[in-house]
Amino acid sequence: MHTQASYLGFRLPHPFVAGASPFGHHLDTIKQLEDAGWAAVVLHSLFEEQITARHDGRIRHMDPLDPTFAEKLAQFPSSDDYALSPDAYAEHISRIKRSVKIPIIGSLNGTSPESWLKFARIIEQAGADALELNLYEVIADLVTPAAAIEATFAGIVGEVKRIVSIPVSVKVQPYFTAFGAMAQRLDKAGADALVLFNRFYQADIDITTMKMTPRVTLSTNSELLLRLQWLAILHGRIRPGLAITGGVSGPEDGIKAILAGADVVQMVSALLRYGPTYLDTMRAGLERWMESHKLDTLDDVRGKASLRRADLTSAERAQYLHTLQSWGH
Ligand SMILES: Cc1cc2nc3c(=O)[nH]c(=O)nc-3n(C[C@H](O)[C@H](O)[C@H](O)COP(=O)(O)O)c2cc1C
Repeated sequence: MHTQASYLGFRLPHPFVAGASPFGHHLDTIKQLEDAGWAAVVLHSLFEEQITARHDGRIRHMDPLDPTFAEKLAQFPSSDDYALSPDAYAEHISRIKRSVKIPIIGSLNGTSPESWLKFARIIEQAGADALELNLYEVIADLVTPAAAIEATFAGIVGEVKRIVSIPVSVKVQPYFTAFGAMAQRLDKAGADALVLFNRFYQADIDITTMKMTPRVTLSTNSELLLRLQWLAILHGRIRPGLAITGGVSGPEDGIKAILAGADVVQMVSALLRYGPTYLDTMRAGLERWMESHKLDTLDDVRGKASLRRADLTSAERAQYLHTLQSWGH
């Protein structure tokens, strides 16, 4: 039985990739991931806020003399809370590359065009095998229309692709009115893979202080279905590879993601909960399932449950009706 997968041009022994997380902070923990057999590692992101804060004392181009600046700055973690400065991030990549053999994917989360480009190049020069662009942004102003945001996202991908030669994946959020068209646009902009989907870390409200409080929770597989749906819609219809991130908590979830059309399965919460050796459970579960269904290669699995051949809109409508009618049965 063969579980080989390919992603961003890498031939991988299996589809399980360690997603961007604090495991990327230290060479030791990355070595643990390699020793446990993870196929590739995405490093934690280098954030533009950290970059601009370190370089010129500004956060997202805000003027430090602006009286609102101090208040806004207080909403960000202090730069010491970020794992690494840009130079240290580059040095970190170089050290990792000297020590491990599995593909290392750098991750960048910017907001201004100039920093995306500058830091994408630094990450490439440091020796990363690929770059994941994390387009995480909550547009909180009330004037920017969706079309402008989508054009900006596609523009960033196009520009980064123009200046780096390593493969570029794009980690996106699901909240677009027409994500299919956005995926197509990212494809045209040159994205080599799409990573579906960013989780939003929505702040909770503390009723004692009556303030919003940031809260990071690990995921459960209740977050899986949204991702499966979009993998199933996109599989075989766009050029970029597809990775799932979000809600893969055990072998069955991974199998479902591949059936929907994922080339690779990124995991973070399960890794943080159970540690690097949880990969054994994921691989054994996939292999046992393939064996019991007499499927020899992952090519026989990938996209088997996708909507590729269906009339997509009516398939989606039919599933919607089925879902509603299945209540109570
Ligand atoms: C503690 C923690 C740190 C994370 N740091 C990053 C990061 O630096 N960059 C990024 O793109 N995603 C980051 N993520 C998001 C994960 O890469 C992943 O997309 C998300 O947790 C969903 O996958 P999961 O359900 O397997 O956890 C982080 C997640 C957690 C829990």
